[in-house]
Amino acid sequence: MPFTVAIDGPAAAGKGTISRAVARHYGFRYLDTGLLYRVTGQRVIEGQDPVAAARAVVPGDLDRAGLRSAAVAEAASRVAAIAEVRAALLAFQRQFARLDPGAVLDGRDIGTVICPEAEVKLFVTASAGERARRRHAELSDGTTYDAVLADVKARDERDTGRSDAPLRPAPDAVIIDTTELAIDAAVAAAIHAIDARR
Ligand code: DC
Repeated sequence: MPFTVAIDGPAAAGKGTISRAVARHYGFRYLDTGLLYRVTGQRVIEGQDPVAAARAVVPGDLDRAGLRSAAVAEAASRVAAIAEVRAALLAFQRQFARLDPGAVLDGRDIGTVICPEAEVKLFVTASAGERARRRHAELSDGTTYDAVLADVKARDERDTGRSDAPLRPAPDAVIIDTTELAIDAAVAAAIHAIDARR
């Protein structure tokens, strides 16, 4: 039986690191669903229609160059608010979730909309200040901490405030707050929660 782990939470809370570690631990497949929105956003920057761009996404697109840029992140956050874009990306994610022997998907609405039947749902979060501090430490382009914090807050507001699939924990999600948690401890908490359901 396939086993799905849904990991949601705001940007820079540690979802990706925890998801990759969990997938490695169990030998599961891993999908960073934010990349689907980033590919769509990148194509919109290139001039395509958002819905047509989302419908055209194929697995090979997830390796496209430039998906991590701030401009693409901004475009992704905007296209993610369009209901038809989200609908166009649904089947891709649901198919991936049922791959053998199991799959880890991280995003914003995996436990609430994409895989409400997931065997395990985690909601990984951290304070906005701490997430901005982590993002800022990764940058070397002179962007100030205050600018990063403002960007984190703006994206949070868009992700939680949109009417379609807003960012929020599923009622049965296990909350992991990484504000004061080292990465090893956060991964251990995730594995503990998953072991409890296996
Ligand atoms: O996780 P990320 O920064 O790569 O996500 C990029 C944008 O896509 C982010 O603003 C929220 C959106 N997103 C979403 O709405 N639903 C998902 N499952 C994943 C990402």
